[in-house]
Amino acid sequence: MVSLLASGAASSAGTTAWVALAYLAAGVLFILALRGLSSPETSRAGNRFGMIGMLIAVVTTLVTHSIASIYEILIAVAIGGLIGFTIARRIAMTAMPELVAAFHSLVGLAAVLVGWAAFLEPGAFGLLVGDTIGQVSRVEMALGVAIGAITFSGSVIAFAKLSGRMSGSPILLPMRHVINLGTLVAIIVLTALFTMGEIASQDYFIAITVLAFLVGFLLIIPIGGADMPVVVSMLNSYSGWAAAAMGFTLGNSAMIITGALVGASGAILSYIMCKAMNRSFISVIAGGFGADDSGGGDGEPREQRPYKQGSAADAAFMLEQAEKVIIIPGYGMAVAQAQHALREMCDLLEEKGVEVKFAIHPVAGRMPGHMNVLLAEASVDYDKVFELEDINSEFAQADVAFIIGANDVVNPAAKTDKSSPIYGMPVFDVDKAKQVFFIKRSMGGVGYAGVDNDVFYMDQTMMLLSDAKKMVEEIVKGLD
Ligand code: TAP
Repeated sequence: MVSLLASGAASSAGTTAWVALAYLAAGVLFILALRGLSSPETSRAGNRFGMIGMLIAVVTTLVTHSIASIYEILIAVAIGGLIGFTIARRIAMTAMPELVAAFHSLVGLAAVLVGWAAFLEPGAFGLLVGDTIGQVSRVEMALGVAIGAITFSGSVIAFAKLSGRMSGSPILLPMRHVINLGTLVAIIVLTALFTMGEIASQDYFIAITVLAFLVGFLLIIPIGGADMPVVVSMLNSYSGWAAAAMGFTLGNSAMIITGALVGASGAILSYIMCKAMNRSFISVIAGGFGADDSGGGDGEPREQRPYKQGSAADAAFMLEQAEKVIIIPGYGMAVAQAQHALREMCDLLEEKGVEVKFAIHPVAGRMPGHMNVLLAEASVDYDKVFELEDINSEFAQADVAFIIGANDVVNPAAKTDKSSPIYGMPVFDVDKAKQVFFIKRSMGGVGYAGVDNDVFYMDQTMMLLSDAKKMVEEIVKGLD
């Protein structure tokens, strides 16, 4: 934060040409990073571009600082770095979405604090026109504080819901759409009054901040658990726009570029995820989507229905006989860290002449690209990995649909049960395969959306009840 303030002051004091050039280079590297991250093959290079870009941006900011002393900046960086390092080392892969939500809240809070710092000390930020804050700066500050506050409170609620500190069920206020819209309109009107007044009124600025905190809260509480992935990605986008608005206040081009990149890429990702889950993008931005979810629910008592259970030896025997096997990994594969054993199984089957493909749902696991990362880690060939729309028609020709730790993404209720929280989400047509193997630990466990799955009880389904890694390792032994 201190370094940001410092960079802003330096920029407003007259950014030298080389600082602008360095920020431009960082911006180009960030764009290359995003491009690289769009495919598993180029993602390492993309990551490297991003790291170099960030190094250039940070070093440029440090050498041009002028408000805080370099020691204060380094102490702040060391404390922040230590906290980040410790959290990153401790966090379970499966808790990533809530960690991301928590980090977004910090970006939002930073934007609010920068906005307030600029409001209270406009001279230090070069924002004074005569003896009051310039009108353009007031718009930037109001926008930065409003988007930042929405991001902060929205992310705190998302964190609480994802980490189970708050119920994942939608909390529906009466007339919530009217309240949300009314509060947003009030923020816009207050921003106009704040901008056009003779002086920058503190009362308006306080009102904008408080109402924006309220909107973030109101937008996220009606959203049900199954829709949280899109919310996290949307909050990621909001945090980018908050950073971009901060960049305007600070006169820092690197922050404007980076914030806009995060904002735009987060919005595109949200759009892709909305399409994958068959949700309306506009409803997500408006915060109302998922609000009418009524079915499902965590821990609902479930009826006892007959199902077939098999062993690893049964599965190995049938897999060897198959011509085509489609593997559908999900969250449980990540929990069990079964990807390496799975790759071994895939290699053995291919040696025996079986065609093996992987089918990845866009929201499988707990974060975008979760399955792709794990399969890449286990060196599964990218050309064996297919997206939902590219492989779904192939289940009709598959001998085995091998579901490992996935659940919601293969649940036919998404197609048939209007009261289900996942209704409308495209799912894999595993019921079309001749045989379905379903690995999970127990019949009692449910997927993220907390609903029963008819696939367990189909005639052609064999339940393989075990930890995913253990089960696959036993299947591998059976194939040897
Ligand atoms: P889920 O529907 O969450 O199902 C996970 C399955 O894995 C459960 O059947 C669970 O049953 C099983 N499992 C858990 N640990 C296991 C282990 N050690 N060994 C074997 N099985 C294990 O997973 P999915 O199909 O990947 O669906 C993803 C869901 O998460 C969607 O609803 C999606 O909306 C949501 N979500 C996605 C994201 C993103 S961006 N990907 C982010 C947040 C939420 P047992 O407990 O009986 O083992």
